[in-house]
Amino acid sequence: MVDVSGRLLNEHDVEALQELLESQPEYAEQLTGYPPGPSDALSAVLSVPPDLDPARKRALGLWRGSALVAFADVLVGYPDPSTAYVGLLIVHRRHTRQGLGRRLHHALDSLLVGEPGLKRLRVGVISTTAGASEPFWVAMGYQPTQEQKPYRYAHVVGTVTFWERGARDPSADG
Ligand SMILES: CC(C)(COP(=O)(O)OP(=O)(O)OC[C@H]1O[C@@H](n2cnc3c(N)ncnc32)[C@H](O)[C@@H]1OP(=O)(O)O)[C@@H](O)C(=O)NCCC(=O)NCCS
Repeated sequence: MVDVSGRLLNEHDVEALQELLESQPEYAEQLTGYPPGPSDALSAVLSVPPDLDPARKRALGLWRGSALVAFADVLVGYPDPSTAYVGLLIVHRRHTRQGLGRRLHHALDSLLVGEPGLKRLRVGVISTTAGASEPFWVAMGYQPTQEQKPYRYAHVVGTVTFWERGARDPSADG
């Protein structure tokens, strides 16, 4: 098992995140039609929807020394106060299928324990990436909702399907 520790990221970590994003060029291509761009990492750390307080965003990484091996960001209280929205969850290509995605999701879940009123986690699965990501979300306990919206980025056209699961109940943790 890879020896890692979890830590929140800030804008000083963008170089490490850029390296991680560039290890999965197909993922960027499925989303945008292009390989990862030079400011993708900065955007992943800083971007928030216009109607959300930036302090409600958490960017979490699993680190192996100074190397970032997995990254996820979550918007707490988005799109409504009882929901946390997982924006991106990505594992360095060299380390996929080693349980790091699961560990990162668990860390994210733990980070959210104690957020007042939080009931569910939500993710938008874009159809162009679904083949690779759906089995992961199923394994994390998410289920597709009936909610969908069109997706378009440059010439990539698809659908976003929203998947959800309950937030962790700390009283059930034994
Ligand atoms: C999807 C992704 C995050 C999975 O991370 P990972 O570290 O490889 O996943 P884990 O090893 O923790 O796998 C956890 C479970 O998910 C499922 N799973 C993960 N990848 C899978 C795949 N390629 N095919 C089938 N099932 C898969 C399995 O059930 C697995 O459990 P198991 O290993 O006991 O069988 C990673 O492949 C990735 O970064 N992909 C590109 C970005 C992406 O698609 N992110 C998701 C949308 S934001």
